Amino acid sequence: MGEHVVGTEYVKMTPSAPKTIWQSKVNKKEVELLINSNAVLLDVLRDQVGTLGVKRGCDLGTCGCCTVMIDGEPRLSCLCLAGQVNGSDIMTVEGLADGAHLAPIQACFAKFGGSQCGFCTPGFLVTSQALLDSNPSPSNEEISEAIEGNLCRCTGYQQIVDSIQEAAKIHRGEIEPPKAASDPHPDPHPSGPEEPSMPPGHAK
Ligand code: FES
Ligand code: FES
Repeated sequence: MGEHVVGTEYVKMTPSAPKTIWQSKVNKKEVELLINSNAVLLDVLRDQVGTLGVKRGCDLGTCGCCTVMIDGEPRLSCLCLAGQVNGSDIMTVEGLADGAHLAPIQACFAKFGGSQCGFCTPGFLVTSQALLDSNPSPSNEEISEAIEGNLCRCTGYQQIVDSIQEAAKIHRGEIEPPKAASDPHPDPHPSGPEEPSMPPGHAK
């Protein structure tokens, strides 16, 4: 693997990258990992840190699914080398909720249908939260500008704009969070029985 035969000689096709220590804060927890020095942040977050909420959409910087906050700024993790952000404070979608309590922006996406298939949602949530952190009263135009790098094939965007406007009102203290923002959600995937009750192929 990774080698090519020329005559009787094996020639390495790609030089292996040296390893390096990577230390950053991810969702308020200190993380220290041994990574390839050329590792992409998206890969480190998904494969080594385990924050699978960071989605790989295009891997080309065009869809916004992989957006994370780095030192408070939304960035595309597929276009960022982990080494470039060594020592930074990273927040993924997993860092938005307070335990079982959804953040207002998450609860508003749920209330207004800002998430449908959900694949784009982590990127939208992080981008939206970054906007609200820097601008508590965004106009619809400012919201459109902030989310222009995030693509959604399902919602038509209006529900997303409505969700962000509603979350902004909650952040400004003008309205109460929807119930979902304050009550823990039941486990949507409770454990099933230890043994399946039907043999394979007989499920109805
Ligand atoms: S996966 Fe990063 S922008 Fe699409
Ligand atoms: S909810 Fe499906 S792509 Fe946005």
